[in-house]
Amino acid sequence: MENFIFQNPTKLIFGRGMIEKLGGQIPQGKRIMVTFGGGSVRRNGVYDQVVASLRAAGHTFSEFWGIEANPTVETLRKAITQGKAEGTDFLLAVGGGSVIDGTKLISAGLRYEGDPWEIVLSGKAKGETVPLATVLTLPATGSEMNSGAVISRSETHEKFAFYNRNPEFSILDPEVTFSLPANQIANGLSDTFVHIMEQYMTRPGQSRVMDRWAEGLLLTLIDIAPKIKADPKNYDLMADFMLTATMGLNGFIAMGVEQDWATHQIGHELTALHGLAHGATLAIVLPALLRTLREQKGDKLVQYGERVWGVVSGSREERIDRTIECTEQFFRSLGLATRLSEAGIGKETRDEIVRRFTERGVHFGERQNVDGEMAGRILDNAM
Ligand code: NZQ
Ligand code: ZN
Repeated sequence: MENFIFQNPTKLIFGRGMIEKLGGQIPQGKRIMVTFGGGSVRRNGVYDQVVASLRAAGHTFSEFWGIEANPTVETLRKAITQGKAEGTDFLLAVGGGSVIDGTKLISAGLRYEGDPWEIVLSGKAKGETVPLATVLTLPATGSEMNSGAVISRSETHEKFAFYNRNPEFSILDPEVTFSLPANQIANGLSDTFVHIMEQYMTRPGQSRVMDRWAEGLLLTLIDIAPKIKADPKNYDLMADFMLTATMGLNGFIAMGVEQDWATHQIGHELTALHGLAHGATLAIVLPALLRTLREQKGDKLVQYGERVWGVVSGSREERIDRTIECTEQFFRSLGLATRLSEAGIGKETRDEIVRRFTERGVHFGERQNVDGEMAGRILDNAM
């Protein structure tokens, strides 16, 4: 195991009715801006719960609506302008990963003089940032308990991650997920599965405890996914889903081990170029990445096949084949496409991603060998 420093400062407030505790968590006298997406929270009662709790605790607040899925810098500039005018010193994001990520850029942009896209390109918030908290409505990204955010720029079809600060606290009430449409549940399950794989599917023998935690989370997803499909308003199933998503990307399974993240990097390009939902891109890229890097990841694929999918017989190559098939089949069981052709994406996009990665000189993956050329091979294997 490699050396590491671990600190996760986000307080988790989890369970039925817990939005009631919101107001009491925010210090008195703050100039709060509450941020929202496109309106799902008005229809499912979350907005009313948030407002009631803030008012009961004596807070006043302003609102910013319209942070879209795959939040854009164009929208977030407007929020930053509003927050600067109002002297905002506390942000509350109410929504899915997009609202939370967007709010992380607002937090970094409120005390920054330049254009917020500069912050995204630099990869890290600089100088003073404004504290934020969240009420999560969609289990998927882990943004409720990490410092990352992924921001798009629509005019150039670009999408990049940057790092800011963790939320002070996040409220997770599984009942708020009952209004999620089936495709968002599928995207969230896919995203969670791939987050775990990005931190696990490298090489074995680094940490028994990280491996077993990651395998436990993967097994949980495989167990609950079909049950959620049949019964999406089951509290206990959605509670396990929500907690798995948070645990999948809050640093707990990344201590002292290598990480990959090439699937995400390629996925972000597919979203930037085609608007495909994040979880949907990963279902296409991950199986293709495993096919492409099956030699390099072979030992871990065998361990994963045995412990997660029960693949225990056959030659090493047959076991790896079956394990990758099981993985692709999992995404298909969620109702997601696993091939670029199914999403209407062809060679032009493949070539553009190769061009972008080569121009940027990137080297992704735990061995830093996913460059433009390798991304092209992965995308060929996804056709
Ligand atoms: O905008 P509203 O009306 O709220 O509707 C949203 C949105 O249309 C809807 N929704 C959310 N909660 C709902 C609901 N509908 C009904 N009931 C509810 N309870 O779902 C739609 C999608 O929401 P979005 O926030 O975009 O989804 P998600 O949470 O999957 O976030 C995706 C974004 O997060 C980034 C992705 O790249 C993408 O931009 N990621 C962030 C990460 C991080 N910060 O650590 C890591 C991830 O790998 C990911 O890259
Ligand atoms: Zn993701």
